Amino acid sequence: MTVRIGFIGVGGMAEHHIKTLQRIEHAEVTAVYDINQERSQEVAAAYGAKSFASSGQMFDSGEIDGVFICTPPFARGDIEEQAARKGIHILSEKPVGLNVADARRKEQIIRESGIIHTSGYCLRYLDTVAKAKAYLADKKIDLILSYRLGGLPGPRWWRMIEQSGGQLVEQSTHQMDLIRYLAGDVKEVSAIHEQRHLRNIDPEATAYDVGTVSFVMESGAIGNITSSCLANYVGRGGIEFFGHDFYVMVDIPTLRIVDDHQDITEVSKMDFYYEQDKAFVEAIRNNDPTLLLADFSDAVDTLEVTLAANDSAAVRQPVVLETGKER
Ligand SMILES: NC(=O)c1ccc[n+]([C@@H]2O[C@H](COP(=O)([O-])OP(=O)(O)OC[C@H]3O[C@@H](n4cnc5c(N)ncnc54)[C@H](O)[C@@H]3O)[C@@H](O)[C@H]2O)c1
Repeated sequence: MTVRIGFIGVGGMAEHHIKTLQRIEHAEVTAVYDINQERSQEVAAAYGAKSFASSGQMFDSGEIDGVFICTPPFARGDIEEQAARKGIHILSEKPVGLNVADARRKEQIIRESGIIHTSGYCLRYLDTVAKAKAYLADKKIDLILSYRLGGLPGPRWWRMIEQSGGQLVEQSTHQMDLIRYLAGDVKEVSAIHEQRHLRNIDPEATAYDVGTVSFVMESGAIGNITSSCLANYVGRGGIEFFGHDFYVMVDIPTLRIVDDHQDITEVSKMDFYYEQDKAFVEAIRNNDPTLLLADFSDAVDTLEVTLAANDSAAVRQPVVLETGKER
C-alpha cells in the first residue's frame, strides 16, 4: 500500500518534510493546502501534488490517508479535529497550539477517532537518545541542565509571542520534550523571560529574546533550560543529566556517558526527520501506532509545561502543574 500524504501549511518545515518523504518508500505527497494560494500552487507544481483551496476540501477529497499539519502555532484552528473526524491520520508539528484547553479538547477527539497520531518531536528518533533512555532508565537523576542558544529564526510570526508562544514554547520545546521523555514528568516551573535587544531588529516584536526556566521533576530532580534567540556567536542545544554515580550528555547528534566503568562519546549519523516521517508512514501502513515515539498526547503534555512557564514568567511566581493526568 502506498500512503498518500497531504500537507496543511507548506512553508519551510513542510518543504523539508516533502523532500524527506520523496526518499521514503511507500509514501507519496498527493495534496497541499496553504492559506497563501500562490505558495500552495507553487509547491504543488514543484512536487507533483494537487493544490487545494481549503483544508476541508482536501479532507473531503478522499485523496489522502495522512496529513502533516505545518501551519504556525497560532494557526491550528480546528484542522486536527477535521482530519480526525474524516479518519485521516495526523502528524501535527510542534507546538500543537498555544492553548492547553483547546489542545486537550483536540486530544480527546483524536483519541476517540482511532486514527494514528503523532507530533514533530523528531529528536526522540535519534539512536543516541534511545541509548540515553536505556541507560537512564534505572538511574537516579538529580540535576538537569539544558540550553537552546542560537540565532533568530526567519518567519515574522516567530518574534510575536502571541503567534509563536515564544522560544520555549516554539523551539526549546524540543529540549523540554526530551527531558520529559528521558527523565519523566515536570511538576513545577519557575521562569524569567526578558526582551533585551529584539525590538532594535523589529520595533513591533513582542517575544522575549532571553529566557530561563527552572523546574522540579516528579522524581524530585531539579533542572533548568536557558534559551536565547540572539546568541549569534555560539549555538547550544544539549541536555546534561547529573547523578551521584553518572553523567549523561545528550546533544544533537552527540551522546556522552561517564561513570565508574566508562567514558564514551558517540555521534549519531541518523537523519531524525527521515526516521520520524518513515515511522509515521509505516505506522499508517501497518496500522501500528507503537512504531511512533511520540503521540499527540505527549505533545500536549510538553505544551502544557512550556505554557505554564509562560504563566510563571508573566507573574514572576512558580507554577505547579496538574498531576495524575488521565490517559
Ligand atoms: N520539528 C522541527 O524541528 C521543526 C522545525 C521548524 C519548524 N517546525 C514547526 O513547523 C511549523 C511551521 O513552521 P515553518 O518554519 O514551516 O513556518 P513558515 O512560516 O515557513 O510556514 C508556515 C506556512 O503556513 C502557512 N499558513 C499560515 N496560516 C495558515 C492557515 N491558517 N492555513 C494554512 N496555511 C497557513 C503560511 O502561509 C506558510 O506558508 C511550526 O509549528 C514550527 O514550530 C518544526
